[in-house]
Amino acid sequence: LILGIETSCDDTGAAIVDSTGNIIGEALHSQLQTHLAMGGIIPPIARDLHIQNISQIVETALQNANLEVKDLDAIAATVKPGMPLSLVVGTEFAKKLCKTWNVPFIPIHHMEAHALTARMVEKVDFPFLVLLVSGGHCLLAVAKNVDEFLLLGESVDSAPGEVLDKVARRLKLRNMPAFSTLSGGKAIEMLATQGDVTSFEYGNQPMFKYNDCSFSFTGLREKVYKHIGREEIIHTDQVLPSAANLCASFQHALFSHICRRLQRGMHYVDMKQMIPEGARKLVVSGGVACNDYFRKYLSIICAEMGYTLVCPPPKLCTDNGIMIAWNGMEKWTAGIGIAKNVDDINAIDIEPK
Ligand code: KG4
Ligand code: ZN
Repeated sequence: LILGIETSCDDTGAAIVDSTGNIIGEALHSQLQTHLAMGGIIPPIARDLHIQNISQIVETALQNANLEVKDLDAIAATVKPGMPLSLVVGTEFAKKLCKTWNVPFIPIHHMEAHALTARMVEKVDFPFLVLLVSGGHCLLAVAKNVDEFLLLGESVDSAPGEVLDKVARRLKLRNMPAFSTLSGGKAIEMLATQGDVTSFEYGNQPMFKYNDCSFSFTGLREKVYKHIGREEIIHTDQVLPSAANLCASFQHALFSHICRRLQRGMHYVDMKQMIPEGARKLVVSGGVACNDYFRKYLSIICAEMGYTLVCPPPKLCTDNGIMIAWNGMEKWTAGIGIAKNVDDINAIDIEPK
């Protein structure tokens, strides 16, 4: 039985899982509504909300599981990467519990946890290809083992979720009652269903001159800002009449870029024979992987390239304590990265980058 604690960004999550991937107890506090109202995540506010909520969230997860701390085999917590002020809250809380109750501590890498969550719900053997797309990251890697990853490419600037959130704010989608409580990415996805993907042009693909698997999103964001700027001169309404078209075309341009780089990565894996043919799986996770338009796009690429697409359910794609507990379990089972005594636990610190 492993308790996982997540506080790397704006979700305070805790969960207990067993070695077969059963979720025994869980609790999650999302700060989304506060950050939407503030126009973005303000680190000290995120920290204060984690501090306010962490005891209750861990307590609730344990109560759901009908367990006490002394019943746990280990406690896992995200120590990297993330916002320093947020990371420290979960890490220190977990370390203190471990030392008080004499329970081993397992430090967790947030992105590795996203990468391996699929193995909790489905049989996915190593090696597999993994694409992580969130508010903080975009990366493509070959997962070779629990603690061995080959990074094929990552974003050279901003992350896709971050860009979606900024564009949603620029379009003032929060002023539309149907979208007022949704993340920017979700709001854009919903409004895009009413728009035309060909309505606005985005020119050349980002990084088209670079024959690698890096991603870039800032240029696309600037292009959509320009389109919005031009529309705003004509229409001075709160929400632009062309908002649905802007969302549909922008979302398409963004996912098209990700899928092209992904397809290049698949060709590379094929060329280097990194994953046996017939056993090729693509795991896609992170908050942006909740997007249905993106999932359809990905399924086309996978069918074309001979991959089975594995997307964890949306609840496991966004940040949560379950993925941290499961990553702790993977490490526990493999006997890697477990701090058993007080000195080893004290030596562990957060690594924001
Ligand atoms: O993985 P996540 O919960 O947190 C981290 O960034 O680590 O991802 C949050 C991001 C936000 O930027 C949000 O706008 C985006 O995921 N997102 C979506 C959707 N749901 C959440 N983006 C596109 N389509 C969605 N349905
Ligand atoms: Zn995440």
